[in-house]
Amino acid sequence: MPSLHPTAFEDCLIRVENVSKIYSLDTSGGASASVNSQVLFDVNLVIPRGQFVAIMGHSGSGKSTLMNILGCLDTPTRGHYWFDGRDIAALSDDELARVRNHNIGFVFQGFNLLKRMTALDNVATPLLYAGVSRAESRKRALALLDQTGLVKFAAYQPSQLSGGQQQRVAICRALINNPPLILADEPTGNLDTQTSREIMAIFQMLNREQGITVVLVTHEDDIAAYTQRLVRLKDGRIVHDEATAQ
Ligand SMILES: Nc1ncnc2c1ncn2[C@@H]1O[C@H](COP(=O)(O)OP(=O)(O)OP(=O)(O)O)[C@@H](O)[C@H]1O
Ligand SMILES: [Mg+2]
Repeated sequence: MPSLHPTAFEDCLIRVENVSKIYSLDTSGGASASVNSQVLFDVNLVIPRGQFVAIMGHSGSGKSTLMNILGCLDTPTRGHYWFDGRDIAALSDDELARVRNHNIGFVFQGFNLLKRMTALDNVATPLLYAGVSRAESRKRALALLDQTGLVKFAAYQPSQLSGGQQQRVAICRALINNPPLILADEPTGNLDTQTSREIMAIFQMLNREQGITVVLVTHEDDIAAYTQRLVRLKDGRIVHDEATAQ
């Protein structure tokens, strides 16, 4: 396993330096009063390529806020974020969208599938946006559904699938552009224990066999045990960052 805390710039997929996040909340109902709320405090986090990382912490500790920054869905108020050696603050909106679409696969607790689309089209759609032909997009989507044992559900809509099946579709969708990074915010939060294990086995396989870097938020020790490294947030600060007890 590579070092938990690499220092060489080129070894890092993710390098977060002294990142703080302050939300400004409008408290005036349209007048100009606002109150600032700081939810991340000087967070430092370096993740090498190929690592499988769990982020834990109480509700409100800043896990999703940090994940949104890692996923380039939000920007830090202070500090720096380099993704794959690129300073995110220096990218235009178009470049940021490209990083999100091509380099990062997102998986969420609520699956976030499009309800009126089939499983196949849910998986294929990001490729269509990337300019790939419809036939090629569908072919690649089918191959991914096949890998996760879902090919016979390709024509089903999300409401016709179990939670575990929906999450597998969402993982296929996250993988369709071959991203080096998967960010998963409580991906097993809506699933029973057995189904959660099946989903974690998929993340573990993707990490071990394809070298995909996976960063995953969870509330459960059993889920974190699948990963290599545990980062614990408390009140917006990293208070623990060590190899996971296997
Ligand atoms: N858009 C926002 N505007 C203002 N405050 C926000 C916003 N998003 C999150 N917060 C606040 O930031 C803090 C951290 O929220 P965050 O969603 O990161 O927590 P979390 O650790 O993911 O919690 P949970 O386990 O419940 O998902 C919370 O106090 C929340 O109210
Ligand atoms: Mg959250």
